[in-house]
Amino acid sequence: MTTTRAAALFDRLAAVYDEVLPFFTGFAEQHLEWLAPTPGARVLDLGAGRGALTGAALARGCEVTAVDVAPGMVERIAAQYPGVRAARVMDAQRLDFPDASFDLVCAGFVIHLLDDPAAAAREVRRVLAPGGVFSFSVPGAVADAPEWAFYSALFREFEPLITPGQGRLGRPLDGRPLLAGAGFTGIGEHAVEQRLPVPDADTFWNWALSHGSRAFIDALPPRPRAEFEARVRAELAAMDPIVLASGAHLWRGTAPLLGSF
Ligand SMILES: C[S@@+](CC[C@H](N)C(=O)[O-])C[C@H]1O[C@@H](n2cnc3c(N)ncnc32)[C@H](O)[C@@H]1O
Repeated sequence: MTTTRAAALFDRLAAVYDEVLPFFTGFAEQHLEWLAPTPGARVLDLGAGRGALTGAALARGCEVTAVDVAPGMVERIAAQYPGVRAARVMDAQRLDFPDASFDLVCAGFVIHLLDDPAAAAREVRRVLAPGGVFSFSVPGAVADAPEWAFYSALFREFEPLITPGQGRLGRPLDGRPLLAGAGFTGIGEHAVEQRLPVPDADTFWNWALSHGSRAFIDALPPRPRAEFEARVRAELAAMDPIVLASGAHLWRGTAPLLGSF
């Protein structure tokens, strides 16, 4: 997705993003649990959205800077987290920070959306202090949730109805070559899952419209869009209770100590 398109979409969604269900907040908690940063660590939340990782890092006593390409997200972070060191509009692929400014750079569900993830990884490496950590999440698999197979199947079924270049955000991304290519070492990965209770079908649909999948839904012509929604609601009607099962894949790598790259 182009940076301009991402900025426009997420700016439009900023008021509702992660407010309908604590979807990104839940994964951010698990992400920070895995990273276990020490209090006082200088953290950059890259593509911070409404600050899911920012909030989790502040709660652990870190010194947090948040950046996002969407001004509406950045304004809300500054208002919601007065403890944040700085919240700035910035492109993850061109960071306006001096070399070696941070101990940890974390990015939740962002890197796979970028035009040039390798450029972002190189920039992250530059702004990390030697020995610092870059960690990011991408959408992942979830086990034992056959009742949700319909959802990704519906996206696949309706995708041909969308003008190429519109719709789906992001693409599958393997963290290992990305991190290795930017010179990170000690590469690690970790799969996490969450199960979120959803009060009713209206809440689920509002959630679907509150984040990146909105681009896909809005790119459907009116009749297929109505059919897509009806099919989702029909599946949800068979679930009692509705529990949203989802997975994420976490990656991390370490910036080598000086002289080792
Ligand atoms: C799926 S949201 C994730 C937000 C947040 N990290 C979270 O976990 O909730 C993706 C975010 O990346 C931001 N983004 C997309 N492209 C970007 C870019 N080139 N530079 C910085 N942020 C970007 C969007 O504006 C959006 O807020």
